Amino acid sequence: MALHSAEKRLTIPLPGNEDLARAIAATGDYQLGSLETRNFPDGESYLRFLDDVEGRDVDLICTLAHPNENFLPVIFAADAAREFKARSVNLVTPYLAYMRQDKRFNAGEAITSRTFARLVSSSFDSLLTIDPHLHRYHALSEIYTIPATSLASAPVLAKWISHNIEKPLLIGPDEESEQWVSQIGALSGAPFTVLRKTRYGDRNVEIHMGDLSQWQGRTPVLVDDIASSGRTMVEAAKQLAQQGLAKPVCVVVHGLFADDAYERLSAIAEKVVSTDCVPHTSNNISVAELLAEAINAAEKERA
Ligand code: R5P
Repeated sequence: MALHSAEKRLTIPLPGNEDLARAIAATGDYQLGSLETRNFPDGESYLRFLDDVEGRDVDLICTLAHPNENFLPVIFAADAAREFKARSVNLVTPYLAYMRQDKRFNAGEAITSRTFARLVSSSFDSLLTIDPHLHRYHALSEIYTIPATSLASAPVLAKWISHNIEKPLLIGPDEESEQWVSQIGALSGAPFTVLRKTRYGDRNVEIHMGDLSQWQGRTPVLVDDIASSGRTMVEAAKQLAQQGLAKPVCVVVHGLFADDAYERLSAIAEKVVSTDCVPHTSNNISVAELLAEAINAAEKERA
């Protein structure tokens, strides 16, 4: 039975997240809401809810690429929704930022992942995200104190690869990527291999690739959770070329593509494909259904 519209969950996008919010709302019994937003001349944010949120479960859709500019508006929105007596205020962020500084590598460094988690936990009732960069943390619950659900994009990536690539060889460019490529391999039946990476700086990585000549005739598919400077994938692609393998198809969950990263990678790859966790011209794989199913499942659990 359809819920009365006043009882439907409210799905509200922050600026830039409208397409994903619409796609999520279209899959279920959600009401798409909206916020009026603008910047004052000095850069401060203005926000106004255009829906009555009182007594409602509110899902704020806000990917956290470029977190330094996108975080404050979503915190303001969450705080206002609470003030307007929303029943719950939930953060749906397909890309969760500030997960990589998970240890003090040098004396005096801030462990920003922890601070960020504390700030999010104090503003929201729950968090839903996709493939957060869990490396030294094994679960979000190690740093988040609210219910934090982490979804795997592997099933949608495996489906895309199976439908679009003949005879793929999945390649994880570093040890951390094994968690994603092994899952995609298991789901798609494609063979996979994992390379080793040494990082010397933000834009300086070295990839160690063993002999892959046995895989001649297969299409290399580089899979990573994040492409930021793009150097990891570019270096891996260069080595594949040196070994005489075909140009790779690059599949990335969170395509951050800083500066000219996308252009550099496109120049050396057969194709660069990303999910819509971060809006980008390379988006080809939608995570809307995955998110909507999880929101639905959580809703049923609570009912
Ligand atoms: C880090 O370990 C991640 O899994 C990615 O490999 C990394 O963030 C990619 O960064 P970049 O594109 O700057 O090489």
